[in-house]
Amino acid sequence: MEASHSLLLVALLAALQGRVAGAGLKYDNVTEQIINGPSPDVIPIPRGSWAPLDVSVEFDFINIAKVDAERNEVEVVLWQSANWSSPIYAWNMTEPNQAVSRVTVPARYVWVPDFTVIHGVSEIESPNLVSILHDGTVHWVTSQRIRVLCDVGDAKNASGVTCTVKIVSWTHNANVLRLNFHPYRPTADTANYFQGSRYELLNTTVTKNSMMYPCCAEVFEDVALTFSFKERGVEAAEDADASSSALRLTSSTIAFILALCFVVSLRRN
Ligand SMILES: *[C@@H]1O[C@H](CO)[C@@H](O)[C@H](O)[C@H]1NC(C)=O
Ligand SMILES: *[C@@H]1O[C@H](CO)[C@@H](O)[C@H](O)[C@H]1NC(C)=O
Ligand SMILES: *[C@@H]1O[C@H](CO)[C@@H](O)[C@H](O)[C@H]1NC(C)=O
Ligand SMILES: *[C@@H]1O[C@H](CO)[C@@H](O)[C@H](O)[C@H]1NC(C)=O
Ligand SMILES: *[C@@H]1O[C@H](CO)[C@@H](O)[C@H](O)[C@H]1NC(C)=O
Repeated sequence: MEASHSLLLVALLAALQGRVAGAGLKYDNVTEQIINGPSPDVIPIPRGSWAPLDVSVEFDFINIAKVDAERNEVEVVLWQSANWSSPIYAWNMTEPNQAVSRVTVPARYVWVPDFTVIHGVSEIESPNLVSILHDGTVHWVTSQRIRVLCDVGDAKNASGVTCTVKIVSWTHNANVLRLNFHPYRPTADTANYFQGSRYELLNTTVTKNSMMYPCCAEVFEDVALTFSFKERGVEAAEDADASSSALRLTSSTIAFILALCFVVSLRRN
């Protein structure tokens, strides 16, 4: 009885291990294929294709972190999400050792757009990973801190300050890389905007523009996020409340001390 029990346990463990190893194998197969796959330095346009690669961009506005009136700069935190699709990353999910729908790899193993902020600098603050779907769709979501030039003027002005973060591909023209944004929502998502921010976000718009530069005959595209903000008036009012309550405290303290003095002097007499 005992022997058959332990035999069953061993069989169960073996089966479990087999499952785990199997799942690992699928993941390894696909991940390995991608890591050792097409060069990350070359834009993944299928061989013989004349169509540009479509790259879609969306923004989640997280915070206006800093307004520097002296340098005419604003610092914002955005989640930038971009996606594109190429059959060179696709795999056959019905193959027994490729039965996973999605894998995540460090972004350095695949091509990612050479996005640059015009009149600004950006820094990726999140883990820099891409998530790849079995059909070859690549999702690249990063949290970025972006500093951009902007005529800040008076950020306290109730009618607001307007700034633009403009993103371009540094080298690829519109014949090679076509930029898009969500056609039905030409704004940034502001649901995750930091509620405690010193700056109130008034509105955002996302537009796509085509530009020609003296260097080249081709058209370059950019996606521009324009936003208006003002310094929160609420906080100024709270400050005023706080200082007046401090004042009240002080005057009541003075009254208390005076009363004490009076009582003490009465007792002495
Ligand atoms: C992954 O699996 C496919 C299909 O079974 C096979 O052709 C390929 O050699 C495997 N690749 C790796 C890296 O294991
Ligand atoms: C995917 O793999 C299955 C199973 O090996 C095979 O029957 C099928 O033809 C493959 N499909 C493609 C598009 O290669
Ligand atoms: C606020 O901004 C508006 C529009 O830029 C400007 O006309 C106005 O003079 C500004 N007001 C103050 C107090 O700076
Ligand atoms: C955004 O807000 C600013 C400041 O209130 C205003 O001047 C501008 O017209 C608004 N833009 C849009 C697209 O609503
Ligand atoms: C890629 O992004 C665009 C715009 O944000 C979206 O409409 C589309 O559904 C996304 N594609 C995939 C495959 O997720």
